[in-house]
Order: sequence, then structure tokens, then C-alpha cells
Amino acid sequence: MSPRPGTGTQVHALILAAGKGRRMRSGRVKLLHVIGGAPMVCHVARAVQALKPRMLAAVVGNQAEEVSRALRDDPNLAEGIRFVTQAQQLGTAHAVLQAKFLVGARARGRDTALIILNGDVPLIRPSTLRALLARHRRSGAAATVLSTVVQDPDGYGRVLRDDSGRFTSIVEHRDATPSQRRVNEVNSGLYCADASLLFDALARIGKDNSQGEYYLPDLFPILARDGHRIEAYPHPDDFEVLGVNDRSELADAGKILYRRRAEELMESGVTILDPDCTYIDPGVTVGADTVIHPMARLQGATRIGRGCTIGAMAHITDSRLGNDVQVLDACVISDSRVKDAVRIGPFAHLRPGTRLEDGVHVGNFVEVKKSKLGRGTKAGHLTYLGDSVIGKECNIGAGTITCNFDGFRKHETKLGDGVFIGSDTQLVAPVTLRRGAYVGAGSTITRDVPADALALTRAEMSIRKGWARRYRDRMRREKNRAGGKR
Ligand code: UD1
Ligand code: CA
Repeated sequence: MSPRPGTGTQVHALILAAGKGRRMRSGRVKLLHVIGGAPMVCHVARAVQALKPRMLAAVVGNQAEEVSRALRDDPNLAEGIRFVTQAQQLGTAHAVLQAKFLVGARARGRDTALIILNGDVPLIRPSTLRALLARHRRSGAAATVLSTVVQDPDGYGRVLRDDSGRFTSIVEHRDATPSQRRVNEVNSGLYCADASLLFDALARIGKDNSQGEYYLPDLFPILARDGHRIEAYPHPDDFEVLGVNDRSELADAGKILYRRRAEELMESGVTILDPDCTYIDPGVTVGADTVIHPMARLQGATRIGRGCTIGAMAHITDSRLGNDVQVLDACVISDSRVKDAVRIGPFAHLRPGTRLEDGVHVGNFVEVKKSKLGRGTKAGHLTYLGDSVIGKECNIGAGTITCNFDGFRKHETKLGDGVFIGSDTQLVAPVTLRRGAYVGAGSTITRDVPADALALTRAEMSIRKGWARRYRDRMRREKNRAGGKR
């Protein structure tokens, strides 16, 4: 006896991502629009991946190269997503048929469930997909569609049921009669189907409809006619499953994604002062007892330790911060590594390649690029440190500038441990200041400084007694003479 359809011992998943999304009014296909730090289609793939399907594939067409690249480059997605090209978008059934050689071969002789979903549902939760799959298996259906009930069903396919409430078919809005249009249970575009029955049924779908397209939902009456069970399973959260069609819905979905991540983090012990005004990407991790102030943006592969403070308007991308780090307001930090108990800002800029060891202080209006600052080193104010390697316990005075660029190449500045740089100093690279060296304020350092030496480049100071008084007196006299003439 062949296995009962729908018990699905194996799961494959297929994302339909060949369409354009005209309502975005964009040169870019809809699925590539970014929310929560990633293109929409990547959120969908991540949710599907959580079910650990045997195979995850995407049907691409419009901007196929870019859509595939977005999925391939997402660090949160495992390698091995497969791509199928649909050269012409002849409809959703046609899109699924393109994956026949991938899924069909794997399904032969086995009981395989295929989850099919649109690429424009970035809010889809793994738990929703699991529930669909469980329902599909439990009922023994050959195919199951996730439906949802909406106030305004305009534009969606309507789920039609017979007098006893049994699901019979789906009719597209444009093909529906006025009475069918009054139905407000709609097709979400999320399906689960028995792979061995699916492709045979797909081959029998025609395009005799108002758009002349091969409609995937036409699968259901075909399976039913063959004597198989079909199911429509309503889902309570319509926005989660109907997804994003225009830029207004894109903004709404983005807010929900950020709110969800904030809720998860608060549950794990992070304080977020205003979760509706805090933008933490789904992939970012934050340790317990960290406090995050409003308007902070934490993006990409950022990882923040325990007991940190993240100030208002801080913008942190792809960076790792240790424990007890204080980032004061309005700091920008990218591609940097920061160890424990470091204090940064306000208004500091850590550019790619910055490494701050334990206890470093980088204060206001300090910019650091591709530089390492050793344990306990302080650069408190108004400084640029680029392409430099700085030892432990150094003091970098206010207004210190590494002159790292000669107009053609970048050069390195090296400071040993315990170097003291007086304020308003230029370090003209390449240059090395050895351990314990001192630089007097206002110097321009163009040669290496030996250990424990003082380097100073400063014109001799002169004092002229009474000069200022004489100067003022002369100026006042001249002013009075000019005034008398008028
Ligand atoms: C589809 C359903 C409709 C459902 C709605 C939910 C059909 C015929 N209709 O309508 O019942 O209520 O989704 O959002 O399926 N795609 C391809 N290749 C194609 C056509 C589409 O890959 O040839 C992809 C699109 O990129 C998109 C998805 O399939 O991700 C849905 O296509 P779309 O044209 O948006 O279908 P709807 O008209 O929204
Ligand atoms: Ca759609």
C-alpha cells in the first residue's frame, strides 16, 4: 500500500521570488527592499530554515541575480539554498513547476511535504509554518492552504467552501463573481502539499482565467476531483501571512520586526527604555542587564555583552562589544571590536578595524579607524587616530591627529606602552614613539621618538611687557581721531 498522502516524513520548502511587485513603484524588485536590516526575502528564508527542511529552494526571475545574491550572502542563512529560474512569469503554478526537477526527483517513492510560500511575507514565524505542517500531516490532506480572514479582501484570492463549510476551491479576485467577492476568507499564498501528487496536478492546471496565468490555487479542485483531501486552515494574524505589498506596509512590517526583537531581548533581561523607538536587527544579540536608550540602532552581526549602556542615537553595525561597556549618546561604531569596561562618546566615531582593549576611554569628538588601543589608554577629546597601533596606558591629549595619508598612501603610527601625547599634536606617519616617550603640547612629530625621551617642536615663547596696554591705547586713539572727523 502506498503511504497515506500528507503524513510527510520529509519536508522541502520553496519560496516564490520571481515576481516584481509593481506597487512598490521601485526600480528594485519588492523582495529586495530592506526591513529589519535585511531584504524581505531573507527574513522569509530564515523563518523557513528554522524548520530544517531537507531542501530549501527559491524560484527567481525578475532581478534573479540580485535576489539569489541577497539570499546567498545572508550570514544568517545556511549555505545550500538552491535556485530555479523562471524566465517568464506565467503564474504561480508555472513558478512551482520550475522546481519539479529539484523536488520531484527527491520525492519519488517517498512521502514528502513541500511548503510553498511567497517571498513577500517577512513577518512569517517558524511557529506558523510548523502549525501549517502539523495540520497538513494530521488531516492527511494532499494539499493544505493557510487562509486568513480580513476586513478588506480586495485583490486576494477568496477561499470558497460548500454548504457544510468544506473547502472546495480558491477564486482570484479578478475572476470572482460579486457574491464570491463578499467572502472575506482569503488565500495567504502559503501552502503545504504532498510532493508526489503536486507536480502531476500542476501539469494539469490551465490558464483559462482573466489574467491568462497558471494559478497555483487551481491545484485544489484538481486534487479534490482525484479523490484527495484538501484543507484550508485559517490563521488569526492576517498581516503576518499576507505580507507587504507597498511601501506603507513595508514600514509597518519593519516596526513589527523591531518590536518583536525588542520583546525577546527584554524577556532575556535587557532594559529597553522605549521599545517602539529602538531599532535592533533580528540577528543582533545583547547580554542581560544592558540598558538601551531611545533611537539606538543595532545592526548586522553586532553582539553586545552584559551590563552595557547603549546611549541615545548610538548606531552600531557589525561590531562586538564586551561587558560593562558604556556607549554614550550619538556614537557611530562599525566593524569594530571593543573589550570590557570601555567608555565611548558622546559623539565618538569608531570606523572599521578599530580594536579597543579593556578599560579604554574614547571621548567626545574622537574618530578612530583601523587602529588598536591597548588596555587603559585614553583619548578623551577631539582626536583622529587612523592606521595606528597604540600600547597600554597611553594618554592621547586633546586635539591629537595622526597624519596617516600623504595624498597617495596610508602610513602607520606606533606608540609603545605609557606614551604621553600633549594636546594639539600632529603625528606625521610613518612614525614610531617608543615606550614611555613624552610629546610636548603643540608639537608636529615627524621623526621617531626613543623610549622615555621628550619630543617637542615649538617656537621659543617670548614675553613683551606692557605690549598689550600700549597696543590698546594706540588703537583707541586712532578710533577717536576717525570719529572726530565725521
Ligand atoms: C497570489 C494568489 C492569491 C493570494 C495572494 C496572497 C495566485 C494566482 N494567487 O496572488 O490567491 O491571495 O497571492 O498574497 O497564486 N510569482 C512568481 N512567478 C510568477 C508569479 C508570481 O514567482 O509567475 C511569485 C511572486 O514573486 C510572489 C508570489 O509568487 O512572491 C505571488 O505572486 P503575485 O503575483 O503577487 O500573486 P497575487 O496576485 O498576490
Ligand atoms: Ca501578492
